[in-house]
Parts: sequence; structure tokens; C-alpha cells
Amino acid sequence: MGLFFSPTKLVITSVLVFQFSAFHVAAKQVAQSAVAMPDSYSADTAKNILELGGNAVDAAIAAQFVLAVTLPEAGNIGGGGFMLIQKDGKSDFIDYRETAPSDAHRDMYLDEQGNVIPNRSIYGIHASGVPGSVAGMWLAHKKHGTVEWKKLVQPAVTLAEQGFVVPPKLAQGVSNYISYLNEQKIDVNFEKYFAGLKANEKFTQPELAKTLKRIRDDGQAGFYEGETANIIEKFMRKHGGIITKADLKNYTAKSRTPLKASWNGYEVLTSPPPSSGGIAILQWLKMYELQKLHNEVAHNSSSYVHLLSEIGKRVFADRAEYLGDPDFFDVPVNALINEIYLKKRMADISLTAISTTEKIKPGLKESEQTTHFSIVDKMGNAVANTTTINLGFGSGVVVEGAGFILNDEMDDFSAKPGVMNAFGALGGKANEIQPHKRMLSSMTPTILLKDNTVKMVTGSPGGTTIISSVYQSILNAIEFNMSADQVVNVPRFHHQLWPKNVIRVHEGLNDAVKVELQKMGYTIDERHFGDMHVIINKDGELDAASENSGRGKSIVF
Ligand code: GLY
Repeated sequence: MGLFFSPTKLVITSVLVFQFSAFHVAAKQVAQSAVAMPDSYSADTAKNILELGGNAVDAAIAAQFVLAVTLPEAGNIGGGGFMLIQKDGKSDFIDYRETAPSDAHRDMYLDEQGNVIPNRSIYGIHASGVPGSVAGMWLAHKKHGTVEWKKLVQPAVTLAEQGFVVPPKLAQGVSNYISYLNEQKIDVNFEKYFAGLKANEKFTQPELAKTLKRIRDDGQAGFYEGETANIIEKFMRKHGGIITKADLKNYTAKSRTPLKASWNGYEVLTSPPPSSGGIAILQWLKMYELQKLHNEVAHNSSSYVHLLSEIGKRVFADRAEYLGDPDFFDVPVNALINEIYLKKRMADISLTAISTTEKIKPGLKESEQTTHFSIVDKMGNAVANTTTINLGFGSGVVVEGAGFILNDEMDDFSAKPGVMNAFGALGGKANEIQPHKRMLSSMTPTILLKDNTVKMVTGSPGGTTIISSVYQSILNAIEFNMSADQVVNVPRFHHQLWPKNVIRVHEGLNDAVKVELQKMGYTIDERHFGDMHVIINKDGELDAASENSGRGKSIVF
């Protein structure tokens, strides 16, 4: 399919990070709040909710709904995500990942010869999992919210009904996407809904406004039951899709225990399966730390890029073999982040030579759009939220009558062992398609704590590159003591075992370093990835930043 290399097909996921009210008594109070958001509408809404006395979860919920209106590449009610919460000194992880419909089956994307049918899990009516976002927000609100639900959904209703002024970068993204759909002769209805979106002009979404009103008035049932569910099922039947009213009614968001591990004097609080990201960043950070005992390497030098790429090979070999939905597959979480295991795992890494891709096996025996935001409130609570419809603008399908874009998250399953998905990721039994199962994700909303105080809130979009953005943001902030602005804007890089010895790098990585890496045998793929929105707490002072390349906005107040 080659979408991993396509400049036009973006992959969008969003992460939201918030810090809440009523922080643990032992925790140091911060007088400031901060939001680091993927656009100005979500930033201003989150700030308003915090100023009205809401906590970080309230702000996150309101922002999630606003992004469904103003960031159609990734913001959504037709997708899913993960919300990591540190509130009142306790942590929670709301898993609102999409699930496979009940009629889904392992070979649903294969033709009669057993080959993967190109594009079927990426565009059109067959690409979508059962959406989880509304149920996720509802569960987060029930467990942690303080502001009335209606007040949190209303800003999105207003923006959909009365319109929002379109940022030029969004207009460009929509225009590129429509051209791509036309060039590739992909038959979806995206253009019908979004062709009228023009830079610096108001864009209204009346059908979406009505759907949001039902959610505002009836909560979770406003999406999964009644009129919205009827519209979705009718639309699915008309076009041959398989999501039913029963699938919608049975969808449940889950509260899971976040992964926690000590690293470098901090407690890293991160995403458990069905995210692959939490295990991956812990493997990456711990192996880096073990290596550091022997050799120090300078930030973004060729040795640094090579070392972290070598670690990445091992991380992604484990990901392909062992990671999937924990409700369906026994994920060996503790074994994978065990230090003795990781020491053995890195024993054959050389700082001067590339290991052979084909020889890196799982160790136990084995355009990326999404959106992320981070919020910290003045009571010291935090939320990191990442949400996605998978690739940019999801499946390209808008539910007629309900006005929202459906995800193409089914592509995050492994359609066939040994066949890469749109992110170049491989998978096997752990991540094969089964009814009601959650597809493996790379979304990695993460919070760093010290003495139970929030020190950093981080996350990014970018499919499998999310994992590299997140672990490098932590190294940049903690190991290399960078400001939030430096953390999000310093060039990053990504390697994931396959494609063989290809390192994807941001523009700006030193030319001499790139030449040295090429001499070692790497291929350099210079393409930006991610859109980080990070908050750092330095001695009680909050520092927030959004990446320059995106249309994000960060405010400390
Ligand atoms: N859809 C991208 C991810 O969840 O990893």
C-alpha cells in the first residue's frame, strides 16, 4: 500500500493531557494552569473551562468535543483514544479505543487467494471499528468530572452550528486530501461534506451540530442509542457496512490501571495495552539508561540516533509478537519491561555497526495523523489525552445525516501475518481481528511524576512514530534539560525494524550526522512526524509548548 511513505495520506490521532483540581495533600501545589492543544479553538475552550472552576478532566472532555468540529483530520466522535489522568494523587486510564464489530473476522480484508485487498481497511465503509470517543468522555465525566455534562458539550455544538473560521493549514490539508482521493479514484463521500471548507472563512456543520446536541442532551445514549444509532445502522446497511445498533449499544469504554515504572528518579505513568506505546517507551528508556552506564552519547549525534534505532528494532520486534488487546491475548507486560530481560535484549547492540534486521526476533523466546493535548490545572491535576480516527480524515466516510467522519482504525489490526499496515507495522496472532476486540494502538499519553507531583505531560500523534516522539520528548526534557519549546521542536527520528535500516528524521538534523548514518548503512527518510503538545513543571513553574509545524496553541495562566 505504501501509505507509510505517502505525503498525502496523513494519520491523525489526538492526545489530550490535563492536570486536575484537588491534588493529593502531599503533592506540591502549582498556582498555574496550562494547556497545550492542537488548535486555538480547543486551547481557548480548555482554558475557559479551567477558569470557570472545572478540573483538567472537564477541560479535556470539552476540548475533545471541540476538536471533533475544528480538527476533522483527527478530532472526532467517530473514533477512539486513550485518556491518562492523574487526579487527587491517583491515576486512571480511560480506554476508549474502537472495537471490531461483531461480524468482523480474521480474514475480512483478504481476497480468495488470501492476499490483502488494498485499501479495504483504510478507506470506505469497511474500514471502521465501533467508535469509542463518546463513551470514553462519558466514563471520564462520570468518574472525574465536576462541571455539568451539557456545559462541556455546548462549545462544540456552537462551533458546529455557527461555524468556525478555518485555519489555512486545515484548508490546505482538506484540499490535499480531496485531490488524493480523486487521483486514487477512492469512492468516499468526504468531498461532499468538506469541499466548502475555505481558508479564513466560516465553516458550519449542521448535521454534526444536531448529533452533538443529542450527545449534549442524552449523554452516551445520544450517540449509541436512539436517533444517532438508527442513522448509523441505516447508513451502514445502505453501503454494505457491518456496524449494527447492537454493536453500538454494547460498546463499553474501560477504566484500566496505567503502567507505572521508575526511571531516572521519576515515576513514569503511561499507557497499558491495548496501547503498545507504554511498554515500548519503557523498554526504550530503560535500555537507553542501561547503555548509558557504559557509554555517554551526545544528543542527536550519529551514535545517539544509531543506538536508539538499534533499541527500536528490538522494541518493534516485541511489539509485533506480544502486543494486542489484553482482554483477548495474554500480554506479558512485566516480562517485557523487566530489567534482566532488557539487559539480555541489548547485549548484542554495537555502537558502530547496524544489526541485521532479519535476525532481530521477538525477545522473550520474541501522513500519521492523530491528535494529542496536555492540560494541567492549578490544583496540580493532569490529563494526557490522545484521540484518533487513525489516518488523516479517517476512512474518508462521513455518516450521512449525522455529519461525523468514521475512523479507519481496523487497519491497526494485523490483516495478515507478515503484511505491514499503513504504518509499516507488522503483527500476528496477538493482534489478529476478532469480534469485539480492540486493535493494537501506538497512542502513548504519558505523565511523569516526582514525589507524586506532575512534572511532565506528553504525547503526540503519528501512528507508530508516536512512540519515538514520546520517549524522545522524555529524554529531551529530563536527560537534556530542555525547555518545552525545545522539547517539541528539536529534530526527532524514528526507526521501527522495518522498513530495513530506514531512519525517518525531521528536517534540521545535522547534515554531518546524516552523512555518518548513511555511511553506516542507514537510509535517511527526511519527513516530519508527530505534533507534540507538552507541559513541563520546573520547580513549580509551568512551561507549555506546541510544535511550530502544526496549528497548536499553548497557554500558561
Ligand atoms: N491509529 C493509530 C494508533 O492508534 O496507533
